[in-house]
Amino acid sequence: MCGIFGCVLKEGNAAPVIHGSLKRLEYRGYDSVGEVTLHNGQIFIKKDQGKIDEVHKLHNLDDLPGNIGIGHTRWATHGAPLQVNAHPHVDCSGQIALVHNGIVENFVELKLELENRGHVFQSKTDTEVIVHLIEDVLNVNPSLSLTDAVLETIKKLCGSYAIAVVSTKEPDKIVCARNESPLVIGVNENALYCASDIPAFLPLTKKAVIIDDGELVTLSLKGLEIRKIADSSLVTREPKLIDWTPEMAVKQGYPHFMIKEIHEQPDCLRNTLRLQEHYLDLMATFPDRAREVFLVACGTSYHACLAASYMFSKLAFLATYPVIASEFIEQHGKSVNIDSTILAVSQSGETADTLAAVNCARQRAATILGLTNAIGSTLTRVSRVYIGQQSGPEIGVAATKTFTSQLSVMAQIALRLAKKRGKVSQDEMDYLADRLQKLPDIVKTIIETQEEKVKQIAKKYKEAKTFFFLGRGISTATAYEGRLKLMEIAYVPAIAFPAGESKHGPISLIEPGFPVVFICPKDEAHKTLIGNIMEMKARGASIIAVIEEGDEEIKNLADDYIEVPKDIPEVLSPIPFIIPLQLLAYYMAVERGFNPDTPRNLAKSVTVK
Ligand code: AGP
Repeated sequence: MCGIFGCVLKEGNAAPVIHGSLKRLEYRGYDSVGEVTLHNGQIFIKKDQGKIDEVHKLHNLDDLPGNIGIGHTRWATHGAPLQVNAHPHVDCSGQIALVHNGIVENFVELKLELENRGHVFQSKTDTEVIVHLIEDVLNVNPSLSLTDAVLETIKKLCGSYAIAVVSTKEPDKIVCARNESPLVIGVNENALYCASDIPAFLPLTKKAVIIDDGELVTLSLKGLEIRKIADSSLVTREPKLIDWTPEMAVKQGYPHFMIKEIHEQPDCLRNTLRLQEHYLDLMATFPDRAREVFLVACGTSYHACLAASYMFSKLAFLATYPVIASEFIEQHGKSVNIDSTILAVSQSGETADTLAAVNCARQRAATILGLTNAIGSTLTRVSRVYIGQQSGPEIGVAATKTFTSQLSVMAQIALRLAKKRGKVSQDEMDYLADRLQKLPDIVKTIIETQEEKVKQIAKKYKEAKTFFFLGRGISTATAYEGRLKLMEIAYVPAIAFPAGESKHGPISLIEPGFPVVFICPKDEAHKTLIGNIMEMKARGASIIAVIEEGDEEIKNLADDYIEVPKDIPEVLSPIPFIIPLQLLAYYMAVERGFNPDTPRNLAKSVTVK
């Protein structure tokens, strides 16, 4: 997730307006930043790696001439956060500049084609292919307008994009377009703005025109023109008045970042499905050859590893060992060796315990693989191969969208491993791949249809002194994660364990009205789980069940239930089944009067051991 912005002003310099607007988009990405303005038929660019304030201090982002320009604040997905990979990107002639938020899925083949036609690339980004494509289209047909050249270009792109383009060829225009990545236009009598999000221009105007997928906009001092990309037909749309405060706007109208990020999960999951085959194959190659594979992480990332260990085992028949990073050195520090592979999972890529475990393994010649949300983080620098989980910045301290993204990435790696090892039939592969593709919509459905019910359940149990979270098989990982969420943001002591363990001790805690959350996918453990529910019910527990829709058997046993769509493969079930538990933790915190974004005693990235 990155932030793009552009403006054309009746008077005054664009650079300070761009700079100020990028600052208001910083929550969308902050590993590098850049601006470009046009003045007297020339292009002026400033860009560098680093946070906006750091780059401004070095280069003075307000000091660029011209009343028109575009800018970008980056969250790296392809290409480390370096100056050369920062946006804007320019074509070979240096006369066209572009900023982009999204993922170009077919950039490798497009780049090859363009290089064969003589284009020279500066960066490692997917974005740069777009500006060279525009140049290529204009080389073939110089009489085309910038608008028509962009229209022709974006029809060649696969993936998500929100782009803004300027050119010395038409120095009074900004052309922008979107597919899946957000784009909004700000309008006032002295200027026009395009941005990834309303906060960018909210202090400048409250009048916004929301641009839909598949639309392209040309901005100039003559006004704005919206066209459908498919057939170039004109679209008229009146501006809306935005009544958000700037603080609300940064959360896109949500009360907290955490609930915004829970709602972002369908889009994040779509982005994880756009990973480059090459990286997924590489990530599958090393575990395939290793004598032993450890999945090492902390907190929520550890729960993702725990779930992934079931995926690797059930799909690829590969035994992997999920290890809590702070215990790794004690448990395996002496035995880990050159035949070991470590998959370290860390949203921040900076967690001290995880990096300490990785360092110990590296010193003993083990192979290090990294899965992280922060390209350019320490974990990416110490990994032999790393893969980005494409979640965009997660501002809430509690990990939500990054958990489901990590699971989606590891499920894809497990599928590739299964294929490499010939452990699942092509039909099963196709079925699982199809279900994985459908997960974003499944998660969207759960949020849309069950959020209200979860709110009611939170109200009903807000005074509860503790909770059990129980599951069997891979749902044990879901139970652990649901418990952590409730503890860390609603401060409710909770206990999670495999449901089969109840009778070995914990069931002694059960008293009438004791809330027990069961995670109940229709998998092989379903029947046994019903027995566990009966055990609890017999002792007066209040049963809260997350079930597949239509599971009448458990519906009749539960005091409360939340439904997720049917036909979710067991190995993928943590992704949809965790959603109601994330929502439960969030609404319990709100009911209990706490701020879910800033839970006491916690930091977003634990960089101390
Ligand atoms: C999860 O909600 C917590 N914020 C915490 O457990 C977190 O998952 C853990 O600190 C690991 O962080 P990482 O993924 O950045 O390494």
